[in-house]
Amino acid sequence: MEYDTLILGAGAAGLMCAAHAGGRCLVLDHAKAAGEKIRISGGGRCNFTNMYAEPGNFLSANPHFVKSALARYTQWDFLDLVNRHGIAWHEKTLGQLFCDGSAKQIVAMLMDEAAKADAAVWLEAGIVEVAQDDIGFLVVTERAGKRRTVRAQNLVIATGGKSIPKMGATGLAYDIAKQFGLSVTETRPGLVPLTFAEKRFAALAGLSLPAQVSAGGANFDEGLLFTHRGLSGPAILQASSYWHEGERITVNLLPSVDAFAALKAQRQAAGRRNLGTVLAQMMPARLADFIVQDWGLSGNLADQSDAALRDLANRLHDWDLLPAGSEGYRTAEVTLGGVDTAGLNSATMEAKTVQGLYFIGEAVDVTGWLGGFNFQWAWSSGWAAGTAI
Ligand code: FDA
Repeated sequence: MEYDTLILGAGAAGLMCAAHAGGRCLVLDHAKAAGEKIRISGGGRCNFTNMYAEPGNFLSANPHFVKSALARYTQWDFLDLVNRHGIAWHEKTLGQLFCDGSAKQIVAMLMDEAAKADAAVWLEAGIVEVAQDDIGFLVVTERAGKRRTVRAQNLVIATGGKSIPKMGATGLAYDIAKQFGLSVTETRPGLVPLTFAEKRFAALAGLSLPAQVSAGGANFDEGLLFTHRGLSGPAILQASSYWHEGERITVNLLPSVDAFAALKAQRQAAGRRNLGTVLAQMMPARLADFIVQDWGLSGNLADQSDAALRDLANRLHDWDLLPAGSEGYRTAEVTLGGVDTAGLNSATMEAKTVQGLYFIGEAVDVTGWLGGFNFQWAWSSGWAAGTAI
């Protein structure tokens, strides 16, 4: 069977690419349904882009790599497509755009666009072998126990990263990249909850509050959530992408308060109050209790010297924590690292050394922040490859 373009992976990037590739185009995916990560994303409502998307929201060994694709297919272009399909949407917070109805509308929209472009999609199609000869690329695929060889001039790898193996995520893109002599940067889970030794925060599980979390030189002011295994919530997920095993993180529990000034004012106004009571006015009472125990605080405010209050305030603004690890690919929303951008053309996503071979989406060493940025990268890179073909 001969095609102009063969796309491996019917996820966000693969379907976007199929909608623009033109010619005879076939998409292969081993899953039962296309766009499964889109379907479950954003709590079923898909945070499909971000109004403020710009290159600074992406991590990559080469931070400039994303610029071309993001500038040529922007969040407004995708929003325009969503509007043309009559899908109602809203901004939740921080420029994050979600469907009013269901994420399934985004999957249906992409399938519709791919169908309009005459692209065929074969599901439950395993990839057995990928090769290249003088004529083009050859892919052996297996469906319902039957093997077929498909030929194509262009091969687009859109099989994503390793996050959530239960949903069919595999490292196929990295294997294919290596097979064709491209390098792959170190991969690790991103946008992932962090775990702590001895279930340190188990007593606080379920508690959330606004906080500022810092890791690896990046700071995020968003929600912090205590869990049975450690810490989660948007601020932690964001910071986790900048965190490496063995490194410490800091948490500012009172990002919008000058804790030293507040504690001093309280000492003057109500010096006989004990520290726990005062802290419970500044943060959830359960957390205040935990801090009193964990930090060994005792006594009344009046007993505290300026230096002691300064120390306490510094700790509240700069709580130094050592995560034991992360929850790993089991729950990570994305994979950091991937196909090295040094080997790809940033305008087309084509491999510099293998004509007709393209890598798009999460498989590439480009990872967005939480908030719709990862889908925007899938749309922009899928469009870049599709229109270049
Ligand atoms: P994607 O993973 O979408 O698609 C890859 C496809 O390749 C899949 O269909 C898979 O079955 C197929 N495949 C893999 N290996 C294969 C093999 N060996 N053979 C054949 N087929 C194979 N982002 C965002 O911007 N907003 C959000 O709201 C969310 N929410 C979210 C929630 C959860 C729970 C997760 C796990 C992730 C998110 N994300 C997100 C991230 C987002 O889902 C992700 O970045 C994109 O789906 C990446 O798109 P790709 O097309 O690159 O891969």
